[in-house]
Amino acid sequence: MEDDQTGCPMGEGPSATHPNSAHPDSAQPGQDGGDRPRRRSAVTCVRRGLAQSLRRPVRAVERLALRPWAVRRELIGQLLDDPASRQRIMTGLRWRQIDRADFDRQTPTDIEEIRGFEDCHWLFESGPPNCSLSQLRFDEAADLYHRIVELDHPRVAELGRYKGGTTLLLAAAGAEVLSLDNDADGGQRQFVPALQRALERFGLEDQVEPVVADVLDYEVDRSSFDMVLLHCTPDYDLSWGAFRHWWPSVKPGGAFIFHLTPELPGEVQMVHELQHDPSWSDVAFEPDLHGENLYARKIAP
Ligand SMILES: C[S@@+](CC[C@H](N)C(=O)[O-])C[C@H]1O[C@@H](n2cnc3c(N)ncnc32)[C@H](O)[C@@H]1O
Repeated sequence: MEDDQTGCPMGEGPSATHPNSAHPDSAQPGQDGGDRPRRRSAVTCVRRGLAQSLRRPVRAVERLALRPWAVRRELIGQLLDDPASRQRIMTGLRWRQIDRADFDRQTPTDIEEIRGFEDCHWLFESGPPNCSLSQLRFDEAADLYHRIVELDHPRVAELGRYKGGTTLLLAAAGAEVLSLDNDADGGQRQFVPALQRALERFGLEDQVEPVVADVLDYEVDRSSFDMVLLHCTPDYDLSWGAFRHWWPSVKPGGAFIFHLTPELPGEVQMVHELQHDPSWSDVAFEPDLHGENLYARKIAP
């Protein structure tokens, strides 16, 4: 019996012969050069089934492209909230990622040896779907973790904490963390107790100072941080304001990290201007992005 949705045989196991000569694959001769239709592998059958079952949600997503962004966001949210649709979309994504995966392309040139799990991040996909308690991509998190491990208990400021996953990561790598959020979206403060419990669970609570304050209002001491991670705004004016306010707090040799969101260009524009403004003579940018993180080093006077 054939499943007319997938073109694959039902109830006969994945390697059963496909009887439908109308299908392009099945119209070809078998590998032995005879006229018998080719036998289809389990993987082909599963994929074909998935492609069929994905078609409906994918069409729905395509139709969304015609709608305003706020409506699209709401509808995509509804689609992802439906467990069956979400499962199909995620499974489709997984297959695509495996298909594209390639050691020759993915093996990093800037990692000389594997010192720990963080040097294996490139075996995995990095991007929005990996974000959860931490809003960092997997490659950004690995890079940041490694830089902190290399330093001796550095002092790090995270500007924009949200739920605090990155705060915990920084502490786990050995940093003393000032973790700041302004609570403006009405609720970030409520996440602090859960973060505290998680920090205590792993004995990291003494390394973290969670602060509720605006990035522009918090009083900073000069040369007090080895790293400052700006992750609270894609806004042009606020990015300039935060940089001007926090740059003096970076120690000579230390780093200010911009978390850039390419599709939200305000901060990208601000960084572009900074890079081309000679009056900021103590700022030296690393040439490459690490994920979406861009590192500006403070040149010692
Ligand atoms: C992208 S989230 C931070 C994600 C977090 N760094 C992580 O990696 O998981 C941005 C956060 O910045 C906070 N925020 C926005 N504007 C701010 C401001 N002016 N001062 C302080 N925090 C702000 C928001 O409340 C939000 O929680």
